Amino acid sequence: MTEQPGMVREAFHTLWYDSECWKQTTWFGVPIQKNPFDPLQYQEVLVEQPPDFVIECGALHGGATLYFANLLDLIGHGRVIFIDIYDNWHDAARRYPRVQTVVGDSTSVEILDILERLVPVSSTALVLLDSDRTEAHVLRQLRAFQRFVQVGNYLVVEDTNINGHPVLGTVGPEPYEAVAEFLQETKDFVVDSSREEKLHFTFAPSGWLRRVSREGNDEYPRELVVRSRSMATRGWRALESYRRVRAAIRGLYRTQRRGK
Ligand SMILES: C[S@@+](CC[C@H](N)C(=O)[O-])C[C@H]1O[C@@H](n2cnc3c(N)ncnc32)[C@H](O)[C@@H]1O
Repeated sequence: MTEQPGMVREAFHTLWYDSECWKQTTWFGVPIQKNPFDPLQYQEVLVEQPPDFVIECGALHGGATLYFANLLDLIGHGRVIFIDIYDNWHDAARRYPRVQTVVGDSTSVEILDILERLVPVSSTALVLLDSDRTEAHVLRQLRAFQRFVQVGNYLVVEDTNINGHPVLGTVGPEPYEAVAEFLQETKDFVVDSSREEKLHFTFAPSGWLRRVSREGNDEYPRELVVRSRSMATRGWRALESYRRVRAAIRGLYRTQRRGK
C-alpha cells in the first residue's frame, strides 16, 4: 500500500510525458515545453527571492523566455537571459524589453565570455539548464553556470526525468546522471527534494539544486542539506518503481487482450 502513491505518480508522469502533450503547449502563443507544475514553482521561487537575472540555456522559440519576462514584470525587477544554439525566438520574446537573447553553444568560451560581461559578479540569478540533454553537455553546463548562482538560489536541471527517472527508460546517461556526477564534485549544491515533492510532479526530479555554500563554507541551514537524499538511492528506487509501473501496464494490456 505504501508504494502506491509513488507508483501512481510515476504512472501519471509516464502517461503525461509519453503523450507528448508538452510539445503542444504555448505561453501567449509561443511554444513552451514545460509541464504546468514547474512554471508555478518557478514563480514561487522568484517571488520568494527575486533574482537580478533568470538565465536559461535552451530557448526553442522563446515561450519560457516570455513567461519569465512576464513574471519579472509583475515583480518589477530583473532581466532574462536566454541562450540557444539557434536563433529561433518568436519576435514577441526577442523584442521584449527585459529579454537578452544570446545565440551559440551554451558551453562555448565565446558564450561564457558574453555572460561574464552581462552578469556582474555580485548579482543573483536563477539558472535553468534545458538545452542539449547529453550527460557530458549538462555536466559542462553545471560546472560553467554554477558561478552565477548565489547561496540560497537555484540551479535547475530540467529533463532529469529521462533515462528511467521515470520516463524514456533506455536513452542512456543524460541530465540525471550529470547531476549525480556534479554532486560528487561539490558540496556547494544540494537537491532540494521539497520542490519535487510539493506538487508530486516535475520534469526535474533531483534537478532542483540549491546552492548552500561557496567553496565548502556552510552558509545555509543544515536541515536543507539533510533533506536532500542520496542520489544513488533515489536513482535506484526510481528505476525499480519505473519497472514495476511498466510491468503493471503490460499486465493490464495482456488481461485486456485475453478478454477480447
Ligand atoms: C527542449 S528545447 C528548450 C525548451 C525551452 N526551455 C522551453 O521551456 O520551452 C532545447 C533547446 O536547446 C537548444 N540547444 C541544443 N543544444 C544546445 C547548445 N549546445 N547550446 C545552447 N542551446 C542548445 C535547442 O536548439 C533547443 O531549442
